[in-house]
Amino acid sequence: MESPLNVLIIGSGGREHALLKACLESSLVARAWAAPGNGGMAAEAECLPLDVEDADACVKLARDLEANLVVVGPEVPLALGVADDLRAGGIATYGPGKAGALLESSKAACKAFFKKYDIPTAAWDTFTEVEPALAYLQGCKLPVVVKASGLAAGKGVLICETAEEAEQAVRGMLEGGQFGESGKEVVIEEFLTGQEASIMVMVSGDQYVCLPPSQDHKRVGEGDTGLNTGGMGAYAPAAVVTESVMQQVHEQIMARTLDGFRAEGIDFRGTLFIGLMIDDDGVAKVLEYNVRFGDPECQVLMPMCETDPVRLMWDCANGTFKPAEVKIRDGAAMIVVLAAKGYPGSYPKGDPIGLPAELPEGVHIVHAGTKLDAESRLLSSGGRVLGVVAMAGSLQEAADKAYAVCDQVRWENKYFRRDIGHRQLKA
Ligand code: AMP
Ligand code: GLY
Repeated sequence: MESPLNVLIIGSGGREHALLKACLESSLVARAWAAPGNGGMAAEAECLPLDVEDADACVKLARDLEANLVVVGPEVPLALGVADDLRAGGIATYGPGKAGALLESSKAACKAFFKKYDIPTAAWDTFTEVEPALAYLQGCKLPVVVKASGLAAGKGVLICETAEEAEQAVRGMLEGGQFGESGKEVVIEEFLTGQEASIMVMVSGDQYVCLPPSQDHKRVGEGDTGLNTGGMGAYAPAAVVTESVMQQVHEQIMARTLDGFRAEGIDFRGTLFIGLMIDDDGVAKVLEYNVRFGDPECQVLMPMCETDPVRLMWDCANGTFKPAEVKIRDGAAMIVVLAAKGYPGSYPKGDPIGLPAELPEGVHIVHAGTKLDAESRLLSSGGRVLGVVAMAGSLQEAADKAYAVCDQVRWENKYFRRDIGHRQLKA
């Protein structure tokens, strides 16, 4: 290892703050920067301006800083091939290249990969023309799922309850320009029922390790109601992912995915995020692949890694990864996201935030939509503003600790769900 490491984290959300914290706690890291970062990250490390959608600017910044490890947080720069460019410039990078990132940036390509390598998933077809899509819909059961194939910041999936809604969704994307270029191709898919879970797999070529399974809460309202958001909270480990489900993940999903990577010449070095649907009989199917850590899943997984996560990312980036050496802590972790009232619709920004002076052991706060003003006061600047992360011996204890702190954070338009982890806590 080129120790000490100088690490650049690309991104500005809660996920990237969790990754930055892991760097600041690591004995391997000499310097860590975030770009563009946020208010909370700026209080802990140097943040540099960056347009993460400008691949050349990402590479230039890493070069200028003489970073020897870059961790690319979000999907957009990965889809643009930033990781390939960084590696071509001799910089170790955690995050797949463009070919691997296609699994997230094109749902059509991802589904074709599932089919080619016999990975269990919902029945589907893809279309670029309206008439064949409408003809296919005639044979579909309701509800049916219509997805924009390209990146749409988690908003490109429409669950259609009626034939009219499905037709509208197809026309909206293929004719109406909904989701822009991303909606020029659509995936029409069988609606699956069951419980969702997320599995973050750290992959380095033919080596991988599954981090503890987690469950995200995507809906804005309690009881999983209301609009979809980027995620209102998460916890790990998620008990719905039983040993039998993990066996399916290894045998039917990961083994076949690695065969696919080998056959397609994809040297994947980063996180493969498996979005799973587990039915009442415990049968798992893949809803989607993402090619980065989940947000907010990452925030609960970093504290669960007993092995230094920076070492894991460094080894993944360099092809020296040994899954057997990865140790996970006992216990459970939870994050409760504190959002601005109104999110995911319109919401106020610029509210001053008061944080508790001290936090109980095992609790920390990650920032997402915050910034510092000229006097270094902390202001809200986004929809998801903060996340309270707690790690404890049990999920109930983690929830109690997290919620105690949620009540102590003060700002005028704070909103959060009080029922993160409800399925598992009730059980
Ligand atoms: P995706 O971006 O493909 O994971 O879709 C976002 C969300 O839409 C998922 O987390 C599910 O809640 C839902 N979803 C996607 N595909 C399906 C499906 N085939 N059946 C049921 N729900 C789905
Ligand atoms: N939490 C879901 C995602 O990051 O896509």
